[in-house]
Amino acid sequence: MKEKIEKIKSEALVEISSAESFDVAEELRIKYLGRKSEFTNILKGLKDLEGDERKTVGQLANIAKAEIESAFAQKEKELKEKSFDFAAEKIDVTMPAKKMKRGHLHPLTKIQNELEDIFTSMGFEVADGPEVETEFYNFDALNIPKDHPARDKWDTFWLKSEAQSVERGAQKERILLRTHTSPVQIRFMQSHTPPFRIIAPGKCFRNEATDATHEHSFYQFEALMVGDDVNVGNFKYVAQQFFSRFFKKEITVRLRPSYFPFTEPSFEFDISCTVCGGKGCSSCKNTGWLEVGGAGMVNQAVFEAAGYPRGKYQGFAWGFGLERLLMMRHKINDIRLFNSGDIRFTKQF
Ligand code: PHE
Repeated sequence: MKEKIEKIKSEALVEISSAESFDVAEELRIKYLGRKSEFTNILKGLKDLEGDERKTVGQLANIAKAEIESAFAQKEKELKEKSFDFAAEKIDVTMPAKKMKRGHLHPLTKIQNELEDIFTSMGFEVADGPEVETEFYNFDALNIPKDHPARDKWDTFWLKSEAQSVERGAQKERILLRTHTSPVQIRFMQSHTPPFRIIAPGKCFRNEATDATHEHSFYQFEALMVGDDVNVGNFKYVAQQFFSRFFKKEITVRLRPSYFPFTEPSFEFDISCTVCGGKGCSSCKNTGWLEVGGAGMVNQAVFEAAGYPRGKYQGFAWGFGLERLLMMRHKINDIRLFNSGDIRFTKQF
């Protein structure tokens, strides 16, 4: 019996070591260790042997089995290494990598950051206010009392329910989605004393039908500079500096008389055409000028509403739409693209 086991073992080891493929190795495994193999028969027959013999033969058989198994494992490893195709697995480190798609900021966020950088470098602070505003901050304090016809200028989204109003003294006050960033002027002045210069970029809402140049939700940008003797010349200079830096070319600013209840005098301001420089082209409809926004010297009634004494300070304020600035810079012809959610548009900037 012992010789038989030794014989099977040595035969198996020789055959296994000369196997050249996985298939041959598998056949040998069946031949030597399979259910019908001689070896398995020997193990099965162990129970018929006498005590001592059973023990020695059993041990011998187990050792031989372990040896054959490890020979198989060794062979498999060898075959695997042999079949590894280095040429196919080669990595060309000079190949250009696949481009990863990365997220990006919305163009309006980018422009806001840009404006904040320019203004803070000119000594302005950035101020903020809520998008849901009270009637007081959005209108009354800005010298637009309840039945004033000027309220028609701002088509307002009012929040209707009774619960959505706030106490102001003895009165309940209606709340609304702010129609411009000017309420931030009042909020800031209530808690600060001049001199100061601030900008207040932010979202505004108007209840209007949208078209290529009107949106119900849009961004505005407020500037306010107040001191003892701030004047229209200061406004013109700051505006000129800002627009020249923003458009990276020399820009001139022009004022036209206008009306806002919260400024006196009030202006519309234009900048020299960013395309033709003022000579006249299709972008400026041959006028040489592009309309930008509203501005003026802060009305003393506004200072008073914010808690300052009448006549003590002077200041300028201006407001314009951020979308409009981007539309001018990139020749975008429809304001609705900004809110379209179409990343083919937004990723271009
Ligand atoms: N708040 C005004 C608007 O939305 C713009 C403006 C701001 C005008 C500041 C003058 C001064 O139309």
